[in-house]
Amino acid sequence: MNFEFTEEQIMIKQAARDFAQRELIDDVIERDTNAIFPTKHIKELAELGFMGMMVDPDYGGSGMDTIAYVLAMEEISKVDASVSVIMSVNNSLVCYGLSRFGTEDQKQKYLVPLATGEVIGAFLLSEPEAGSDATHQNTTAEDKGDHYVLNGTKNWITSANSASTYIVIAQTYPEKRHKGINAFIVDKNSKGISLGPHEDKMGMRSSDTHSVMFTDVIVPKENRIGDDGFGFKFAMMVLEAGRIGIASQALGIASGALERATAYAKERKAFGTEIINHQAIAFKLADMAVKIENARNLCLKAAWLKDNHKPITVASAMAKQYAADIAMEVTTEAVQIHGGYGYVKEYHVERLMREAKLTQIYEGTSEVQKIVISRDLIK
Ligand code: CAA
Repeated sequence: MNFEFTEEQIMIKQAARDFAQRELIDDVIERDTNAIFPTKHIKELAELGFMGMMVDPDYGGSGMDTIAYVLAMEEISKVDASVSVIMSVNNSLVCYGLSRFGTEDQKQKYLVPLATGEVIGAFLLSEPEAGSDATHQNTTAEDKGDHYVLNGTKNWITSANSASTYIVIAQTYPEKRHKGINAFIVDKNSKGISLGPHEDKMGMRSSDTHSVMFTDVIVPKENRIGDDGFGFKFAMMVLEAGRIGIASQALGIASGALERATAYAKERKAFGTEIINHQAIAFKLADMAVKIENARNLCLKAAWLKDNHKPITVASAMAKQYAADIAMEVTTEAVQIHGGYGYVKEYHVERLMREAKLTQIYEGTSEVQKIVISRDLIK
């Protein structure tokens, strides 16, 4: 086994760290407080090649591996998880799905601008009554010969307003249940698409989240991804890769909280010494560090498996569940170490705690990951 990173991976981690510490930190509290979309920062990420990190350079991407992506996601998420969720959805749901399953025409038309970051993408699976239970799609895609007609509502869509390209999962043959589901590439400006209000979220407040309504939206047949009825498997395969991105995001939120809590504990004095000299604090930090290292190893292992074309279903579920759950624990402890200061915005850790919560919910709750992991044990 080789635990060493390549020079390129180290360079990418450093570039992501520099970007986050230089460009994202200054106004992250303001963006979060006022739910301001990070337009300028996403453009800068695109210039760094971080919006299509794993896409082949022939299609506008940077051709990096998933390990480099994990490293970049961790560094950016330490500072601003709203930015990293936009990056993650674009990279590992939208670009990955199109890279792996798109036709040459679909790649030229849609993947290239997404991978260069000229436009961004969104992934539309969840519905008001289909969150964890993703097979129960009520959005319909009626086959009309040379086109489909989409009707229905999607919920909790990251980048719904700012994205130009949607990947939409919808039901074509309800009697076939999940085997009748299709996936489509849909232009956000298509006639018949409307958005619900901006969701006023607890955390990741500057990424834009809306519901999206489809009323008789015409989608050309050539925009279907894969064979007729492939949509559910497509969604599952894309999501299992996407979970590596959100696991890395949770990892970054946790390690950002540890960095802040350690720095604070070295400065803050109580009972005659810096609080890091009290075991009550030092042991908390040690526990946080061990959990983070475990989460990092799970993320990197899942990334390595993906890069080596091996099955990732269980590894990515483990990484996502564990990293998200420890992010919640670690950020809560970071707030505790900061005492009263942890409860105000200026010290950032309360925001990291709010952000950690979402990693336990989206791209499959922690409970969904346990379904995936336990089914593998049962089979
Ligand atoms: N790869 C390939 N195929 C898969 C698969 C995988 N990883 N997982 C399941 N499938 C296939 C199964 O083999 C089965 O196919 P067959 O019928 O041909 O055998 C089919 O899909 C149905 O599978 P299950 O019976 O396992 O389905 P289920 O109803 O029991 O659900 C589940 C399984 C894991 C709970 C799944 O529904 C799930 O992942 N739910 C969570 C959905 C989710 O993550 N939503 C997040 C939305 S996206 C988001 O949050 C993005 C954002 O904006 C941040």
